Amino acid sequence: MKDFLQEKDEEWLQEIFEKLDRKVMRECGRLEDRIPYIPVNGRYSEDWGEKDIAWWTNGFWGGLLWQMYHATNRPEYRRSAERVEERLDRSLEEYENLYHDVGFMWMHTAVADYSLTGNRKSYVRGQHAANLLAGRFNVLGNYIRAWNDDKAGWMIVDCLMNLSLLYWATEQTDDPRFAAIARRHADTALEKVLRPDGSCNHIAILNPETGEVEGLPGGQGYGEGSAWSRGQAWAVYGFAISYAHTKEQRYLDAAKRVAHYFIANVAMHDYLPLSDFRAPKEPLYYDSTAGACAVCGLLEVAAHVPELEKPLYEQSALRMLRALEENFCNWNEEEDGILGMGKVAYHEEGDRQQVPIIYGDYFFAEAVLRLMGKDFFIW
Ligand code: GLY
Repeated sequence: MKDFLQEKDEEWLQEIFEKLDRKVMRECGRLEDRIPYIPVNGRYSEDWGEKDIAWWTNGFWGGLLWQMYHATNRPEYRRSAERVEERLDRSLEEYENLYHDVGFMWMHTAVADYSLTGNRKSYVRGQHAANLLAGRFNVLGNYIRAWNDDKAGWMIVDCLMNLSLLYWATEQTDDPRFAAIARRHADTALEKVLRPDGSCNHIAILNPETGEVEGLPGGQGYGEGSAWSRGQAWAVYGFAISYAHTKEQRYLDAAKRVAHYFIANVAMHDYLPLSDFRAPKEPLYYDSTAGACAVCGLLEVAAHVPELEKPLYEQSALRMLRALEENFCNWNEEEDGILGMGKVAYHEEGDRQQVPIIYGDYFFAEAVLRLMGKDFFIW
């Protein structure tokens, strides 16, 4: 357990961990080989391995399983995680629809597997994915291209989380190219995605020949100039991860700035994150996934700041996690999905208004395990 926790927090975490273990084990049994995303009527009835094998969230279930395997040593978790990883091979073979989220897809599956078991095949998968990500780097504008089709100039804040794969590749091969690309992208994000007030744009559209900014649309947030909360969370954790791998102070300072912005905003709403911090009062949308990711990001920031600075990040992280659990968690083992009230995008229509989303569950579990000292650093 983290040493700043009180006895009552430790008891609460132990209780949540037991519920998590029971529920994930039940989901594991029900899912068999399917790759989950969002439950429909309480069940992960869709298989994203079939629906879209290149979908960016397809690694998170594997990541959750590896975290639980690491924490419990239960073979069921490992077997299911290995199966997800094998299924993802098809998207590497097809190649076409992959984009910058190869980090999310293979850090949580192959790289996690390799880190925990030393599986050589997993190492190779991780290296393939790292080379794909490095191959998306635009040397003219110093950024990693996010999406495909006609979006050659698009970089997005989310990609800060994918940089882990490049740091890993350099750490494994002693070849500095991968980490150099990650740093250059992070530096462009400092300049073009992070705003002076500590909030972030979701998207920066750059001229792919020159790197000049041509547009800053609102992306998955409310609109231009708004502050999509999951994007802010990606920035807190993403810049902190770049600091963890490079020890470049500017990345930690950036993570702290966005963290302060995030904490100030959630404090206005009982530590529950709205989907966008700069949106009209009505309709009121939350995004629990932003909160869960930010909790992990704050704990990462806390790990790197001097002793007297730690309480701000640690106590805010704990308050947010408790608020998420008390308000949004569903521990009914007959239903799939744990952390409810996630929001894919502010303007999302249809049946995905406020739902459990697999990455929300991943970050929630990572946060719980991290506070208990049972996690492993997947990033
Ligand atoms: N664009 C990835 C996300 O929804 O956060």
